[in-house]
Amino acid sequence: MFEARNLTPRVATEIRSDPDTLQGGAHAKEIRELLEQRGALVFPGVNLSDEQQLVFARTLGGVIEQGEKGIFKVTLDTKENVMADYLRGTVLWHFDGFSDDVPTLASLLSARRTSPVGGQTSFANTYAAFDDLPEARQAALQKLRVVHTMEATQRDVFPNPSAEQKAAWASFPDKIHPLVWTHRSGRKSLLLGSSASHIVGMDRDEGRALIDELQAWATQPAFVYRHEWTVGDMVIWDNTGVLHKVEAYPADSGRMMHRVTLVGEEAIA
Ligand SMILES: [Fe+2]
Repeated sequence: MFEARNLTPRVATEIRSDPDTLQGGAHAKEIRELLEQRGALVFPGVNLSDEQQLVFARTLGGVIEQGEKGIFKVTLDTKENVMADYLRGTVLWHFDGFSDDVPTLASLLSARRTSPVGGQTSFANTYAAFDDLPEARQAALQKLRVVHTMEATQRDVFPNPSAEQKAAWASFPDKIHPLVWTHRSGRKSLLLGSSASHIVGMDRDEGRALIDELQAWATQPAFVYRHEWTVGDMVIWDNTGVLHKVEAYPADSGRMMHRVTLVGEEAIA
């Protein structure tokens, strides 16, 4: 079984399929194309085991070595994941791996346990956000470069950081990226997110105001799909063409997501 239907005009497609079909890889090319075009792909109730999720992921691209045998546990429980505190910052719109030259291509996230409150994940299509800007604005924005920092991703979540926290943030190098990512395909997307701190060569406040304005533009309802999780759902998102965020949920809610991540294939340019 393999049936696809768009969930909104500008972002997200639902795919009804089953573990055997997905692991077989016959639709891998179509899935990769849909991912690039639609930003997020939702597989309701597909119920893949860890092993099946990995086999399916490998039909789409290279899998990053992480967590236990390629599975990264997305949870706020520090007993399950030593990085859990950093995940608190994921309530803000972001892309994964801002400090990399080649960000990860995509992640596959499966719901193992949901939270009774919060925990919905939203995806904003940053290709659509760029495409809908007036041409003159597009041209002006393509000249700008943005400084991305770990501190920017954490400041709003921890407004009064300890000296230890500040030192930990500073240990991640800052990274400069173009504001507009021109992909190999020729398509362009806005590259923003919580890591965007300020704009190179622009007054700090002015740059901040521009980032905030564009961020609000890119995450307006027309470009966003919000997923309400049921155990067994899987969502894949294109980390190079969407921003994502999770709605706050209690650290002791038991929420557990199993993530497999695909190796990046294209440097930001
Ligand atoms: Fe993330």
